[in-house]
Amino acid sequence: MGEDTRPLLGVPKIRIVRTVHKFLRKFRKKNHCVYKASTLKKCVVAIILLSIVLIIIYSQYIGHSPSYLTGFIQRSTRPEPNIRCGVMNGPRIPQNHDHKTEARLRSYPKVLVFVETMYSKLGRDIAELLVHTRIKYKVEVAGKSLPVLTNLDKGRYGVIVFENFNKYLQMDKWNRELLDKYCREYYVGMIGFITPEEETYVGSQLKGFPLFIHTNLKLKDAALNAASQILRLTRAGETAWGDLPGNDWTVFQANHSTYEPLEWAHRNDDYQPTESNVRTPLPTVIQDHGLFDNIQRVIFGSGLKFWLHRLLFLDSLSYLSHGQLSLSLDRMFLVDIDDIFVGEVGTRLRPEDVKALIATQARIQAMIPRFKFNLGFSGKYFHHGNREEDKGDDLILENIDKFMWFSHMWNHQQPHLYDNLTVLMDDMMLNKNFAKMKGIPVDSGYSVAPHHSGVYPVHELLYTAWKKVWNIRVTSTEEYPHLRPARLRRGFIHKNIMVLPRQTCGLFTHTMLIDKYPGGREKLDESIQGGELFQTIINIFMTHMSNYGNDRLGLYTFESVIKFIQCWTNIKLSSAPPLQLAETYFKFYPGESDPVWGNPCDDSRHQKIWSKNKSCDSLPKFLVIGPQKTGTTALYTFLSLHPAIATHYYFEKSATYFDGELVPKRVHALLPHAKLITILISPAKRAYSWYQHTKAHGDVIANNYSFHQVITASDTAPKPLRDLRNRCLNPGKYAQHLERWLTFFSPQSLHIIDGEELKSNPVEVMNEMQKFLKITPFFNYTDHLRFDPKKGFYCQVISGDHTKCLGRSKGRQYPPMEEKSLKLLQRYYLSHNTALVKLMKRIGIRNIPNWLKDDLSDSST
Ligand code: A3P
Repeated sequence: MGEDTRPLLGVPKIRIVRTVHKFLRKFRKKNHCVYKASTLKKCVVAIILLSIVLIIIYSQYIGHSPSYLTGFIQRSTRPEPNIRCGVMNGPRIPQNHDHKTEARLRSYPKVLVFVETMYSKLGRDIAELLVHTRIKYKVEVAGKSLPVLTNLDKGRYGVIVFENFNKYLQMDKWNRELLDKYCREYYVGMIGFITPEEETYVGSQLKGFPLFIHTNLKLKDAALNAASQILRLTRAGETAWGDLPGNDWTVFQANHSTYEPLEWAHRNDDYQPTESNVRTPLPTVIQDHGLFDNIQRVIFGSGLKFWLHRLLFLDSLSYLSHGQLSLSLDRMFLVDIDDIFVGEVGTRLRPEDVKALIATQARIQAMIPRFKFNLGFSGKYFHHGNREEDKGDDLILENIDKFMWFSHMWNHQQPHLYDNLTVLMDDMMLNKNFAKMKGIPVDSGYSVAPHHSGVYPVHELLYTAWKKVWNIRVTSTEEYPHLRPARLRRGFIHKNIMVLPRQTCGLFTHTMLIDKYPGGREKLDESIQGGELFQTIINIFMTHMSNYGNDRLGLYTFESVIKFIQCWTNIKLSSAPPLQLAETYFKFYPGESDPVWGNPCDDSRHQKIWSKNKSCDSLPKFLVIGPQKTGTTALYTFLSLHPAIATHYYFEKSATYFDGELVPKRVHALLPHAKLITILISPAKRAYSWYQHTKAHGDVIANNYSFHQVITASDTAPKPLRDLRNRCLNPGKYAQHLERWLTFFSPQSLHIIDGEELKSNPVEVMNEMQKFLKITPFFNYTDHLRFDPKKGFYCQVISGDHTKCLGRSKGRQYPPMEEKSLKLLQRYYLSHNTALVKLMKRIGIRNIPNWLKDDLSDSST
């Protein structure tokens, strides 16, 4: 109730007072007023007070706010889409630049970014844009030695980017030659940014190139070279009028036909142009066709602060990677309007808002065929507005067919608060019955949970009820993996329900008036004109009913951004119902289907929308990650003997974690503070133990082929044989797997056990382990482990003289490995073992295991 009176008591009151004053002043002048000024003033004050009281009573208690009055007040601030675009309806230059050439097969679709430091601003902007567009990249600090550039006969990187092009120009001879050679041999292009320096250069030559620069300029009015082959996503023709951000732009002057401008701008300072150069545009981004030194480049005279450069950067990546790093020009988008019928009195849609919604939708349809706003409803609050707003509700329903529809909960309740499936389903049924009664379609297969609850973190009951009541196939959330940063939002599939990422564009329930937009109108316009909204246009956008009443910010935002996209890009926007959208999405990003579960207790927002019955106390504190056949079962058994671990320390052992490609990422998402324990033995012995293990399990291949035949099987061998070979050999590439873990976890959280020591001196190993895990009180394993000569291993002391050993499958009896296989494997693992020694030294392990030393020295004999 409080909210709906605010506009009338606040700003408008002053406006009404001024209007009355003005009117009376005019009246006095014209009629040579007969009243005394003081009487008149009192009258005016009385009239004003009376009108205010009447308005309050009228709107608060009668609840029928006079629409012409509020309409008048709000219209005075309401923004109208006003995108200046000279080429909007002009002919489109046919875009057939897919940039694809055969050369793309020479390298992988990944970008190598050389930054000045790990924290430099432009470097971070570049990385953010790459994350946003899901382009793979690797960051290296310039000036250090070059990373490995090739992988067998293929280049590891399709484009090289220098945050500071100077770092490339000043590279030491050796590395520079290496890098240039790589670029030439693998047809890899380069992007460089001229970063500002204090000293201003005028006509200064770029070291070694027929290219001259003038730095530290203020510029305005940027335009593009329509003939450039680089333009693909970006559409030329329009000028970005006005000042360009920053006063440290660099412009180029070339002395060679290899250079072609991509972008121009004009000077914008107290510089006095002469007759001859008054209109000369200055190249601000320049393409090097590679005619000079056989390397193609694009050089930017300023960073990514200027929004157009973000588009040009993406196009340059596409061009220089020969079409490998090209984003699709087809983008789908959908605008959800949540909370239909839910808003507070005074903020809801009135008939003229509904008409505006329909009119805007028709205008958008002219640009995006089949576009329809997607309306989310909670039936319980139907007709809960004032009289005008109730008419608005009716008008929406009269136009049901013009929109798409989806269900929220009947009472807009958070699903995670339900612990009973029947109650949750009953609630959903109420909304479904409401929909049926009103003729709202119920077959969209899409639903959105109020307050983002229950979708992620997952509330299983919600998924079950959605399936049963509504046959839901698609939903969307802004919470996966986290609300922020928005560019990292992704989709996933759970219980056969596709969850799409949702973007908010700053239009929340309370964002109703342009002045109240977080950061002000400028911020919204920035977001539309090349900013975040413009960049995230492949998405479901979430807005709310109240964004379409009041200042109608929803309409303003989307009409503007669509026009802007049409003006400046060749993106083909289309819209589709959620189900189709989701299918396209997961076809595009199949890698996202499987969710990476995070820990709700590490995110306060997630905790708030997580069932009270769940707790984080039952998550493991440490993991024994394997690999298989190194003694993981023995370690697990010994750990479980410790009374403190048995009672408080949840831990988990899974020997297959070690070499799983995605496991470190997943573990880190769920248990970022977990400690990790790995056991290593000679990889050759490990391979043999695995072979014996599969053989003992009756595996046909292991029984039909000798160990030597298995490990020497070629890539043309039958698949089951290759599979066994791989399971024998791959986990033993220890350094490779550990590096993957170490990209997510610090060396301090990793404990490496020498598996041979675990066999020969488990007490010492367990003592070290207690220290690493910081477990108290100290448990004396000497009393609990004893060597059992019969088993040939240490076993648990149970009572008096008795021991309990691991089962027959652990510590098997089998003939020793053939010498030729051992030699072969020691050679095979030579590079991996060498890398392991390096890795161990790097993370501070001083005692290199004897088996590792032996394997390395034996491999040379
Ligand atoms: P073998 O059976 O080839 O000798 P995992 O439990 O990871 O599968 O590893 C099994 C291996 O653990 C056994 O391989 C054995 O060498 C080793 N191991 C280490 N300590 C052991 C113990 N106390 N009892 C039995 N096996 C042990």
